[in-house]
Amino acid sequence: MNDTLPDHHNWPKPGMLYSEAVRELHATIENDWDSVKQSACQTAAGRALWKHVVHDPLAELFAGEKYLISLYEKIKKDRLNNAREVSGVILAVRTLWFESKLEAAVKSFGGAAQVVLLGAGMDTRAYRLECLKESDVYEMDFPEVMQMKDTLLQAAIESITEPSQLSLTAKSLTRIAADMKDEDWFKKLLESGFIPEKNTVWILEGIIYYLPHSQAMGVLKTIADSCRITQTVLLADFMNKQSTTLSTTNFHFYSDWPDHLLPTLGFSDVNLSQIGDPDADYGLFHDPHNLFNKLRGLPRSTQNHPDDGTPCCRLYLVQASGSPNQTVTRPDSS
Ligand SMILES: C[S@@+](CC[C@H](N)C(=O)[O-])C[C@H]1O[C@@H](n2cnc3c(N)ncnc32)[C@H](O)[C@@H]1O
Repeated sequence: MNDTLPDHHNWPKPGMLYSEAVRELHATIENDWDSVKQSACQTAAGRALWKHVVHDPLAELFAGEKYLISLYEKIKKDRLNNAREVSGVILAVRTLWFESKLEAAVKSFGGAAQVVLLGAGMDTRAYRLECLKESDVYEMDFPEVMQMKDTLLQAAIESITEPSQLSLTAKSLTRIAADMKDEDWFKKLLESGFIPEKNTVWILEGIIYYLPHSQAMGVLKTIADSCRITQTVLLADFMNKQSTTLSTTNFHFYSDWPDHLLPTLGFSDVNLSQIGDPDADYGLFHDPHNLFNKLRGLPRSTQNHPDDGTPCCRLYLVQASGSPNQTVTRPDSS
């Protein structure tokens, strides 16, 4: 076995949280937020606990102790039991995939773009990615989440040991409070300074499946429409239908074939990867017989594992792009 991951003794421990003020803010999150909003802290915990591969020094601050400790315990158990997939690995792969594609997209635009993160949660890329230094970043999430992010940052200023972590790397950062189920989300983006004519990278990371079908399609259509105005790149993860059974209350939108859907909306170029594909592996799967490799070996139309009948839950990482005057090519259905 190729043991590229730290063992259960050596997995990097989460650092403990900064101050009483930060702890109190996280108590509010735990007591007052629903599970959809709390998912913002869970993904931050994933980035914090995979810090040997994901560089996100603010992730612990935004995750909070509850999620850090519970994920750390799961990871230690997985490593001790030699589990084929270590908890949080999907998040680590997803983060690295989005970052490499974002960097490439911004570079293809000559180093300057607008970057819109929908369902931004506790994302900190505007503080840490050098590739964004000429770019204007827009983050959108529920009002409570955007407000809490500001408040946590303020509270951290007093206690953080390396204040440079709190300075912006991006050219600018604008936070927009909006519920994307409401039709006015795009109007709010425009009112916040977003310029439709400027080259734009849209990041929909861990968000689209939380939306009901019609709203999710509306969001994708709005982004696709921008391909007619300017150079546009969409980076998004999609659940297949079986994945939405993991939370019947929170997950709604799915697509088994996003690479077929997106061209019908107006994107000209669509690439789809699955976790474990060569561009979505990052050497993080220590066991070749992991679930993701097993899934990749099955046709995408397979709904249940032939071995044990369990649902084939897939997460698709999708890059789509378009620009004025480009023709739309549709992938064949093979
Ligand atoms: C799983 S988290 C992902 C956060 C971030 N993109 C990341 O990868 O760390 C999902 C985020 O989507 C946000 N979200 C879900 N539904 C939303 C809606 N209708 N409007 C705005 N934000 C929403 C949640 O508040 C949460 O921050």
